[in-house]
Amino acid sequence: MNEKSILACETVDLNEEEGSLVILDQTKLPGEAKLLHLTEIHDIRDAIYTLKVRGAPAIGIAGAFGLYLEAMKINANDWEEFYHQLHEAKEYLNASRPTAVNLSWALERMENVATSNKFKPLAEIRELLRRECLAIKSEDTETCRLIGEHGLTLIHDGAGILTHCNAGQLATSKYGTALAPIHLGRERGMNFRVYCDETRPLLQGARLSAFELMADGVDTTLICDNMASQVMKNGWVDAVFVGCDRAAANGDACNKIGTSGLAILAKHYGVPFYVFCPASTVDMNTKTGHDIVIEQRPPEEITEMWYSRRMAPEGVKVYNPAFDVTENELISGIVTEFGIARPPYSESLKEILTTGGKPSSPRP
Ligand code: MRU
Repeated sequence: MNEKSILACETVDLNEEEGSLVILDQTKLPGEAKLLHLTEIHDIRDAIYTLKVRGAPAIGIAGAFGLYLEAMKINANDWEEFYHQLHEAKEYLNASRPTAVNLSWALERMENVATSNKFKPLAEIRELLRRECLAIKSEDTETCRLIGEHGLTLIHDGAGILTHCNAGQLATSKYGTALAPIHLGRERGMNFRVYCDETRPLLQGARLSAFELMADGVDTTLICDNMASQVMKNGWVDAVFVGCDRAAANGDACNKIGTSGLAILAKHYGVPFYVFCPASTVDMNTKTGHDIVIEQRPPEEITEMWYSRRMAPEGVKVYNPAFDVTENELISGIVTEFGIARPPYSESLKEILTTGGKPSSPRP
């Protein structure tokens, strides 16, 4: 598979005939485009933990497909037995990555379908679960397209965008979130200059965003994370677009480690800073960013991964948080499928989630 065809490839899919979750192994990109067909729940959990499939919406979809595949295998005679095993499988998948709310959101959706139909025959419940996981994926495509439409109103043809990590098609079912306006703009013949932070330690910016954007013919420049200040100072950046793994009710946004530093730089240089996410990423049960559990990752991701030999002294202490929280006052807007929430977020997010972006009271 070459660079061009990567956008035609499904990031995450269900193969019903063979009963497998099919993912594009993102740990191999950009060198190799390899599809993995996973049938066992342990392999699916491992693929999520090791970031073979990654990005908040994509792991939600993968989790939902994984739970459906497990539901098809459960050997139970009655609802109680079935539900016990389904719930255990759900908890098992959910524990793979704690920060991105879309995983637990999608798994909850699946479990709710089962519990609210518990008086139906098990075969029917399984069929409802099948429909639900497929709906989670197809809704994500439409959600991302709408996010892209709203995001496009923030930029002009030729704009310079700085992005962090990968919140693109590889992190969703299509288009992405932060990169959706870029892909949508390309469909309409627009051109942008995109600066990709390489995103240490796992290099999602270098390996994935740069690859995905180049495949779409975007003018792409890769920078090390510590070069963002210089690029902004040069006046090359009209806006920063980033994704989100969990937004709190007050608009604090948790995303890939390094995002909050970018927001501080953007404020310093007067560059608007936008967070992109589906409404399902907004967790109204989490009051502020302080309440978000930040996933800690293995030290080897910093000390040896990507190097041909270890680059740090043996025994050195390592701190490797996968995400950080950007305080709401640094965020110019949160772009969802329902529109762009603006400060104060405790009001605008509540409004957007309850009305779906439509005016709450009928206009005369
Ligand atoms: O650890 P990752 O690669 O899963 O982190 C991904 C991000 O931080 C993305 O910005 C976020 O999940 C949004 S994806 C549309």
